[in-house]
Amino acid sequence: MIIKTSAATRLAARRMINGIEEGDDDFNPFILNPVKYNEAMEAYKTGNKNHWLPEEIQMQKDIEQWKDDDAITNDERRVVEVALGYFTTADSIVANNLVLAIYKHITAPEARMFLLRQAFEEAIHTTSYQYIVESLSLDEEKIFMMYKDCGEIWAKDEFSISRTIDILNPSFKTGTFESDMKFLENLVDFYVITEGIFFYATFAAMLSFRRRNLLPGTAEQFQYITRDESAHYQFGIFMINTILKEQPELDNKEFRQNTLDKIITAAKLEEDFAKHMMPRGILSMSSDTFSDYTKHIANLRLQAINMKPAFNVKNPYPWMAEFLDMSRQKNFFETRVTEYQTGGSLDMDSMF
Ligand SMILES: [Fe+2]
Ligand SMILES: [Fe+2]
Repeated sequence: MIIKTSAATRLAARRMINGIEEGDDDFNPFILNPVKYNEAMEAYKTGNKNHWLPEEIQMQKDIEQWKDDDAITNDERRVVEVALGYFTTADSIVANNLVLAIYKHITAPEARMFLLRQAFEEAIHTTSYQYIVESLSLDEEKIFMMYKDCGEIWAKDEFSISRTIDILNPSFKTGTFESDMKFLENLVDFYVITEGIFFYATFAAMLSFRRRNLLPGTAEQFQYITRDESAHYQFGIFMINTILKEQPELDNKEFRQNTLDKIITAAKLEEDFAKHMMPRGILSMSSDTFSDYTKHIANLRLQAINMKPAFNVKNPYPWMAEFLDMSRQKNFFETRVTEYQTGGSLDMDSMF
């Protein structure tokens, strides 16, 4: 039997998770309207305005500089290779979790709109790393297999991958306290920790090249990726805080303690990764400042979900903020071919 529902009924039933209408065992969130979470639609539209493709960015200067031993030092080459070694798999791990684990259980169609956009952006990021590897003629086996060869990268990947397994189980369903908590924890593990913490110090390392007019095409791509990831992180925080508001029983001491413990673990993994990536440091950046930046970012993430900062550090890279407010820097991208930006901006002020 086909049951028709009114807009008011659909709106009343809408939740970030468990938004299932009474008597509707076969719930399918096909109908977008009426929109309840306007923030989700806005985030989706902003993503569209910020569309970009790697192949539009010229790599000629990067290719020349990479061949020149006087332009790029061995320590700098190591930073680029290790960054790519991590990211070539990290974005795929995020996409895997998003499409196969998260999407199914989010019951707000407008939130799903953003997730679809995000999944597309993760694919763009993956092709961006591929484009950089090919342009610079890097050793593909070395880069693409680094997640298995390098213990520090594997430890970060393992942290993320292990958090997907239970949700991926076909019998997993939200709707009980335990399963809802598990799902909420997955959002924290991916949006707050993987995309929100693991990515950022490496973004800073890559953007530091731009500040010195090195590898401009590579750095420009990382600039766009950083902007996209900031939007993903922000949307993750929105989903987490919405679920906590809609299901306050999940907001307990154990959830807060687990979150804090995981963030401390993530900062330690990042410290090990930093030592591997820059054993001697590069100009204006060392494994110590890298770790401090991670902790500074981790403090901001904790505050975003209404928790106290855990680390006593200052932001060692205040210049990061200037790279991220792209809408105000129209002439920044000298090599840009296509201008997609049509006025959308991301609120980055408290992010970096
Ligand atoms: Fe990504
Ligand atoms: Fe992402």
